Amino acid sequence: MLFKSLMLVGLLSNVAANNLRDNKEEIASVEHLDLEITHADGKRELFPLLPGTKCPPGHTCRARAFEDLTNIAGMTPMGAALKNNLKQPLAMAMNWEELNTNLEQVVTSDSYCTRRAAMKRAAGMAAGLAAAAVAQPAYAAATADVKMGSDAGLLAFVPAKTSICKGDSVKWTNNKGGPHNVVFDEDGVPGGVDAEKISQAEQMGDEGDTFTMAFSTAGEYNYYCEPHRGAGMQGVLIVA
Ligand code: CU
Repeated sequence: MLFKSLMLVGLLSNVAANNLRDNKEEIASVEHLDLEITHADGKRELFPLLPGTKCPPGHTCRARAFEDLTNIAGMTPMGAALKNNLKQPLAMAMNWEELNTNLEQVVTSDSYCTRRAAMKRAAGMAAGLAAAAVAQPAYAAATADVKMGSDAGLLAFVPAKTSICKGDSVKWTNNKGGPHNVVFDEDGVPGGVDAEKISQAEQMGDEGDTFTMAFSTAGEYNYYCEPHRGAGMQGVLIVA
């Protein structure tokens, strides 16, 4: 999913570059940067910035040759669709300022959820130009997996703490040591959320049984497994 996202951002840079193609001197003078983002887990990613975009303060950027931007061999189907569509005049269809704002959020936000939402908005604006691009679910909501019972048979939710974005889902799978269930604590959910409605009180006895729930309210959710609450089988869900 992330790869497609990067492709899109890269292409949008490319589009802007194409717009400038008539003026080679201008092209040469415009700086093209890749923003380097280091995730909490140490993984690094490069986000191509729109031509002329400054490196956000406090971040590391790498200059790239203009030729790199036009090298679009091996692009995804979404990329191809975008490129074909963008051969046509796009000035009136594309709100560059808004797009830039979204892309800036993509590269400057420290919040994964904010970044993903901004990417989705940017993709939506681009998709307005290319119907085929809409079919690419690159920014669809995600589903986090939680095992009920560790592989070694411990009575625990694995992982015990899960973080998702608003609109995402969690899928609990009965792994080992069942029966298990998922009961949200009435006092441990955000205000206005009906703990009963998001719980799976029915016990799941068979390995492989699943329970999936979507979460649309931000906040911290505390839940436990009723049969194994005494053994400390509890979990935390953070919705950002
Ligand atoms: Cu349990």
